[in-house]
Amino acid sequence: MKKDWSVSYEDFESWKQLDEDDRLLVQAAYEVCENAYAPYSNFKVGASLKMSDGQIITGSNQENVAFPSGLCAERVALFYAGSNFPHLQVNTLCIVAKGPFASPDKLLSPCGACRQVIAQSEDRQENDLRVILVSQNERTMVFTSAKDLLPFAFI
Ligand code: THU
Repeated sequence: MKKDWSVSYEDFESWKQLDEDDRLLVQAAYEVCENAYAPYSNFKVGASLKMSDGQIITGSNQENVAFPSGLCAERVALFYAGSNFPHLQVNTLCIVAKGPFASPDKLLSPCGACRQVIAQSEDRQENDLRVILVSQNERTMVFTSAKDLLPFAFI
């Protein structure tokens, strides 16, 4: 049996221990989280992106009665960035969430489809895309590269 994958990340008890730039990014994600349209899951997710020119782009999950038609917060933010600022890179992506759908100590981690999109964003820009995951209990994991979130990515 081969075991050849390891995941590197920093672990914090709270996002409040991050440096100021990252704390601002987390706050932006919490703000946009309130704009989620999530009447079906009652789980509000906020994503924020720190772009290579310094601006912050945000997105929240948007659900639809025809379930597959909705979209996760991360993809709303990344696709907005790709649509409007195709020449900028994403330095850091931050994800937060609120709601009883997941218990507070459950690790907040992007779904598989979002990981694929995040992985390709990193691949396209040829520079590391940092990822900050903030669970509802404030536990915060910081990944230097999105590669650590998707072993054996497609392409
Ligand atoms: N959701 C996200 O926005 N991001 C993820 O990575 C996982 C799930 C949303 C989709 C749906 O609106 C709700 O959370 C419950 O799955």
